[in-house]
Amino acid sequence: MFRAALWLLLVCFGACSLSAQAIRYLPEKRLWVITTSQNSYVMGLGPQGQLEHIYWDAPLWRTEDLQAVTAKRDISSFDPHQMLENEEFPGWGGPLYDEPALKITRSNGDRDLVLRYVSHHIDGDQLDIQLKDIHDAVNVTLHYRVYPTMGILSRWATIANGTKQDFTIVSAQSAAWYMPPGTGYRLSYLSGRWAAETQLNREPIHEGIKVLESREGHTSHNFNPWFAIDDGSATEQNGRVWFGALAWSGNWRISVEQTPYRQVRVTGGLNPFDFSYHLKPGESLTTPQFYGGVAQHGFGEASRLLHDLERADIEPHGLKARVRPVLYNSWEATTFHVNEEGQKALADKAAKLGVELFVMDDGWFGARNDDHAGLGDWTVNRQKFPNGLAPLIAYVNHLGMDFGLWVEPEMVNPNSDLYRAHPDWVMNFPGRPRSELRNQLVLNLARDDVKEYIYGALDKLATEYNIRYFKWDMNRTFSEPGWPEVAPEDQQKLWVKYVDNLYDIIDRLRAKHPNLEIESCSGGGGRVDLGILRRVEEFWTSDNTEAFDRLRIQEGFSQAYSAKFMSAWVTDVPNMNHRSTPLQYRFLVAMQGALGIGANLNKWTEEDTQLATKMVAIDKRIRNTVQLGDLYRILSPRTNDTTANEYVARNGDQAVLFAFRHSQQYNTPPPTIYLRGLDEHAVYHVESIDGKLVEKSEALSGAYLMHHGLDFKLTDDFDSTLVILKKQ
Ligand code: GLA
Repeated sequence: MFRAALWLLLVCFGACSLSAQAIRYLPEKRLWVITTSQNSYVMGLGPQGQLEHIYWDAPLWRTEDLQAVTAKRDISSFDPHQMLENEEFPGWGGPLYDEPALKITRSNGDRDLVLRYVSHHIDGDQLDIQLKDIHDAVNVTLHYRVYPTMGILSRWATIANGTKQDFTIVSAQSAAWYMPPGTGYRLSYLSGRWAAETQLNREPIHEGIKVLESREGHTSHNFNPWFAIDDGSATEQNGRVWFGALAWSGNWRISVEQTPYRQVRVTGGLNPFDFSYHLKPGESLTTPQFYGGVAQHGFGEASRLLHDLERADIEPHGLKARVRPVLYNSWEATTFHVNEEGQKALADKAAKLGVELFVMDDGWFGARNDDHAGLGDWTVNRQKFPNGLAPLIAYVNHLGMDFGLWVEPEMVNPNSDLYRAHPDWVMNFPGRPRSELRNQLVLNLARDDVKEYIYGALDKLATEYNIRYFKWDMNRTFSEPGWPEVAPEDQQKLWVKYVDNLYDIIDRLRAKHPNLEIESCSGGGGRVDLGILRRVEEFWTSDNTEAFDRLRIQEGFSQAYSAKFMSAWVTDVPNMNHRSTPLQYRFLVAMQGALGIGANLNKWTEEDTQLATKMVAIDKRIRNTVQLGDLYRILSPRTNDTTANEYVARNGDQAVLFAFRHSQQYNTPPPTIYLRGLDEHAVYHVESIDGKLVEKSEALSGAYLMHHGLDFKLTDDFDSTLVILKKQ
């Protein structure tokens, strides 16, 4: 609300008129000004028609302040003027040595590309700028879509061959983003590995290039396509933070470059590694969307802006989507040993806890008894389910739960009917080895016949059975990415076409089955990005469900993605890393996202069941706030023996505070926790779920909660608590 009002005010001043126009062109200065609630973004045309980046920072309200672009001079024969120009979308041509946004090779070997302005078009919140090479019709359209109340701009590009010859694109980026000139910047990024995804890193930016990327075919566990940059002094609450996230689920790259002339730029899009995209006359390539913004109030606000955007404009049903239900999945309890009787027994127990979505994981199809066979054969295993899935699904529905099913459609085991029938359907270089990982190969989804097979198999399942939810898994990286059936110059299109076809399958499935929901899983968090989020309701955050490890994984995840999309399960202890934490701790960690239970309910004691029933009921009281509210990260698991996160409902009526003590040292008090984002003048009803709050008063003001703070009796290792505040 406040953000929207501020934006209107700024735009009205800036335009010197009352039209709430976020994008304006100033013809006398040849400048474009894009203004949002949080920032302004300015571009201008140089004397030779080059499009230059000018400004991306706090909102500017006075257009008279802005200067037209002037010509720059060469500094030396080693430092041409192009080095200083901050070209908005640099083509590789002329004396350009920094990271290009576009690089091509023409069929005659000519690789020079100098892009100049042709025209532009403003349509509501979208601006398209047309550029063209100085000699031939290598046409580039730069797209800008602004989200005025969220402070975010989305950028992408279409490269079209308007010439009469073929050319090949060897690098196609979505955008180059420029920080204000300066040094001393700091980069935040997410790196990791399987079972340890989205670890937050912060490090100074120095001269040179830092590359975040995936070469693995999927988004990757190793880096996530998100960045944040600050001047080195920002905190969760204060300071300017530039941030961005790339919407692509295949090979991507984000490079962060500081030049010798104090320019810091972030260039991102399709990974140029092993990239080659051949365009015949009349053909085009569109790059993924790259979202970017500048927050004025720290890393916390940068995350909240992205979360708002995701919930309103990216996830499939936007603000109409339901909050994520409480889920049960038996994978960690049963692994591949699923059958009708066993699943029904678990469903009974899950329903009693208050679970709303019951998901059967791997093992229900083909000859799937372990990970050596069956992938590709998406027919029900009749030994395990003699009457198909219908009786189980009817049983689950009768208990009041929706039914979900695990699938891994992009893969095949060599030991499968599918592979025996179509050994050519996997990506491969003829005559070369086919590397197996987890005993499986990757189907070449770039092929349209493979795409149709996968669509057909999933459509059949969704048509035949009352399936509300697919857990869509993808359990290995690409290798030998050959596509021998097409001409050699088209074979490397596989990297892009694979992802286009993946998106196409999901889009068609969703169109035909509007109630179907999908979770994006890739051996945990290997496919977490805004491209797939357009098509799915949830991400499987990590195969690591150990609660203490999860705090760090979730902290990193939350930088870029809303809690609503963060699937988080309570599982049994000792967990995969042999650590044991109390059941309440495990619940509270998981309740900071979309709650799931992945434990073996057959082994739970009466006491476990009672506590779990209580926690599920609490989750249902607070999940609107957690999933749809504003997140405030108060204490980080990276720096404190206590972690604290607070979520405030968008209407301000409820706030919840989670606190976790990892390890206590004798007679060392836990930190006082200062709440945030509350109304100073309101009084809140304070409810501690377990009596660990030191303050005994049931009503406290926002001012007290934020400035005096709360103290807790967190005296054990892996102690935890939750406080629910209700505005009176
Ligand atoms: C992956 C997923 C797990 C589980 C298994 C099943 O590892 O991340 O959650 O579904 O596959 O084989």
